[in-house]
Amino acid sequence: MKSLSLFAATAALIFPLSSYANSASYLLGTRPIEPSGDITWENATVQAQALAAQLSVQDKVDLARILVGTTVPCFVIPEKPQIGFKGFCILDSVTGVGGGYNNASTFSAPVNLAATFDKDLMRQQGELIAEDLRSRGVAIALAPVLNLQRSPAGGRNFEFAGADPVLSSIVNVQHIRGTQSKGVMSVAKHYILNEQEHNRFTANSVISPRAFHEVYLRPFKAVVEAGVGAIMCSYNPVNGVSSCENPTTLGILKNDLGFKGFVMSDYGAAKNGSAAANAGMDMILTGDPRSAWANLTTLVQNGTVPESRLTDMATRILAAWIKLGQREITFPLSTLTVTGPTNTSYKDHIRTVGAASSVLLKNEQGALPLTNGTLKTVAVIGENAMPHVTELNRCLNNVFTTCIDGHVALGWGSGTTKFPYLVDPLTAITEKASARNITVVSTSDHALAAPTAKKADIAVVFVFASSGEGANPPFQPVQGHYGDRYDLKLWQNGDALVKSVADVQKTVVVITGPGAVDMPWIHHPNVVGVIHSMFPGQESGNAIADVLFGDVNPSGRLPFTIAESREHYAADVDYTGLTIEYKEGTLIDYRWFEARGKSPLFAFGHGLSYTTFQYSQITVTAPSSDSAAFTLLVTITNTGNVAGHEVVQLYVQLPEHTCPKQGCAKELRDFERISLVPHESRIVRFRLYKDDLSYYDESKGSWALPFGDFCVSIGASSSDIRSTATFTM
Ligand SMILES: *[C@@H]1O[C@H](CO)[C@@H](O)[C@H](O)[C@H]1NC(C)=O
Ligand SMILES: *[C@@H]1O[C@H](CO)[C@@H](O)[C@H](O)[C@H]1NC(C)=O
Ligand SMILES: *[C@@H]1O[C@H](CO)[C@@H](O)[C@H](O)[C@H]1NC(C)=O
Ligand SMILES: *[C@@H]1O[C@H](CO)[C@@H](O)[C@H](O)[C@H]1NC(C)=O
Ligand SMILES: *[C@@H]1O[C@H](CO)[C@@H](O)[C@H](O)[C@H]1NC(C)=O
Ligand SMILES: *[C@@H]1O[C@H](CO)[C@@H](O)[C@H](O)[C@H]1NC(C)=O
Ligand SMILES: *[C@@H]1O[C@H](CO)[C@@H](O)[C@H](O)[C@H]1NC(C)=O
Ligand SMILES: *[C@@H]1O[C@H](CO)[C@@H](O)[C@H](O)[C@H]1NC(C)=O
Repeated sequence: MKSLSLFAATAALIFPLSSYANSASYLLGTRPIEPSGDITWENATVQAQALAAQLSVQDKVDLARILVGTTVPCFVIPEKPQIGFKGFCILDSVTGVGGGYNNASTFSAPVNLAATFDKDLMRQQGELIAEDLRSRGVAIALAPVLNLQRSPAGGRNFEFAGADPVLSSIVNVQHIRGTQSKGVMSVAKHYILNEQEHNRFTANSVISPRAFHEVYLRPFKAVVEAGVGAIMCSYNPVNGVSSCENPTTLGILKNDLGFKGFVMSDYGAAKNGSAAANAGMDMILTGDPRSAWANLTTLVQNGTVPESRLTDMATRILAAWIKLGQREITFPLSTLTVTGPTNTSYKDHIRTVGAASSVLLKNEQGALPLTNGTLKTVAVIGENAMPHVTELNRCLNNVFTTCIDGHVALGWGSGTTKFPYLVDPLTAITEKASARNITVVSTSDHALAAPTAKKADIAVVFVFASSGEGANPPFQPVQGHYGDRYDLKLWQNGDALVKSVADVQKTVVVITGPGAVDMPWIHHPNVVGVIHSMFPGQESGNAIADVLFGDVNPSGRLPFTIAESREHYAADVDYTGLTIEYKEGTLIDYRWFEARGKSPLFAFGHGLSYTTFQYSQITVTAPSSDSAAFTLLVTITNTGNVAGHEVVQLYVQLPEHTCPKQGCAKELRDFERISLVPHESRIVRFRLYKDDLSYYDESKGSWALPFGDFCVSIGASSSDIRSTATFTM
């Protein structure tokens, strides 16, 4: 870092060159961390040590062993009155109160939260789910999920916050800060490299140190810094050793990242109790016949596990409890199963997230929004638009082997919650249309689709795909898809349905699903609009109708790439192999396309609006005594006729010599979602710190700030870069 020179790659850049000095690089600091709560880990740990010292071996074992509740339908850690510990009720909570007790709300899937690119909504969802949990006595939320959408067919992809490690970090940090600010403890899961369902207990994930640190560890590092209370180790082996028994990965968590909370196992993930305890696992989901931690007491008494390790487990568990302020909170457990109406306080937020996460992929010939006046009749087509007959979101609990009974607004498995109600698209569209004197005709019958579409001025076709947890019993395949999707096609002949309608009518396609789908009809001249809404939860129909009619100007952005065809993606599910090689290295998702110079169908970060935005006056300032970061300022102007949100994205590409094997690609570093009325301008500020410009140097086994040319890009998607600057360090 001897010299620093800068030049602008685009005319829009204005560099105050005089402010750059050779001193800039050593002034570069690390990104400041917002404090997490009032009590520091150091303080909480000191207090926890004092409490743990009062406990017997059996007491400490009791704290470290989760039981299946007998009087309450959650996992429990029993109380220890002698130290004022009132016990924990622990529940799945990825999209709300797991099990949906007491008409709990069904929130949007985490992939939707990622698609909002809205930091406030992410935090708010964490807060509201926590309120719903806390009012039902749940102290520990088994959420959020930090795994990445590596393979588009991955079964639990809707539970993941997209395909980018920085996006996932921000979503999950915000979610956890929201949750823990309400006194409910988050469990970040599944640590680590658990990106598919097939052979999830046995398939060994193999990865390079660099990809491990830069991509998959990154969200865990971020949530540790944000003060997460607990982390769940995953089922799969990593580089040959089971995650929950892996001294290397658990050591990285506790020693390198400085995690002071506790590590709990996934259900049945620890097979060898002494190996897990000695590797650093602190709490086990017992009550599981596969569990090898049936008697930790004996293991401690006969010296297989040192008592100091058991004391450390208890200390970490109590420290997290103290840090969260839970000592002062009463969780009213008895309310978990009482019956009552759903709490309507959350529905506005759920609808807002559903609309804000709906991505307008294509909009031609002024197809959208559906307007008053000229439009007389709209055709709503497809089973996925319809109200249910027997069961809301039927395949939710993996009891049914088909999803088909009306609208699908969530996948299946432990990341779901039973819907208190589900607003279907037909009902929501009919309500809005009638207020606008627009007639709605509809059918779910494929044979009647084209004739129905012909009766209208435009057709909106609803299609879907789904996926979920578990490619092993007791889970079962849903329409042939066993957890992971076996292909990326739309379900229920969706492609044929779209084509039959588009052959006779202008068509808007609305998709719900966990992620990318094949779109063989995308270039059909009559497919004038496409919206991907992922899984919006209980307010799904309202959220989609808000966007269709322009009551909400769409601003959702793809948190994953959509390719023309399945074999173009960076990675795929391995359905049979027992070794999952993360061969694409750091080139996850859009980076893979970019490093190869290939264009996907729709790029990561893409999403259209009903207005237009101009980017101008970008300035970059080097680190100085006033700021330990590169500061980037960009002015965004709404140049259209309606108010809207723009998602401004910041990407960095490291010097080429840092990626000799696979080539470098630009990588997301930050984003801001801003609201602008027509002709309004606002300045967005980004900061780039040392960690944003560093890479994991495998030869040194540590992070390093490289020399060379850095490329900084600001744009509206990973492929719509509005301005680029290059600087040399
Ligand atoms: C720990 O925090 C408590 C409550 O905020 C405070 O009273 C106490 O002084 C702190 N102790 C230490 C050692 O910092
Ligand atoms: C469990 O792990 C320990 C320590 O790694 C090892 O000595 C022991 O043989 C393992 N037990 C089984 C049943 O595999
Ligand atoms: C564990 O071992 C202890 C001591 O040998 C015994 O008292 C206790 O009942 C055992 N617990 C279980 C759950 O097997
Ligand atoms: C300690 O106890 C465990 C559990 O009962 C047993 O599997 C193991 O063989 C014992 N080890 C020794 C050294 O006694
Ligand atoms: C859920 O709410 C509905 C409508 O208010 C009510 O009929 C039903 O009994 C409630 N169910 C539960 C389990 O509370
Ligand atoms: C409903 O949720 C709001 C917001 O979290 C909360 O203030 C209120 O107490 C809840 N009502 C019930 C009946 O739980
Ligand atoms: C709908 O039609 C009715 C009757 O023709 C008319 O009174 C009303 O103003 C119309 N509403 C809108 C929103 O166009
Ligand atoms: C269309 O009608 C709705 C409902 O009456 C109204 O809220 C909206 O402002 C109208 N939009 C236009 C562009 O006239």
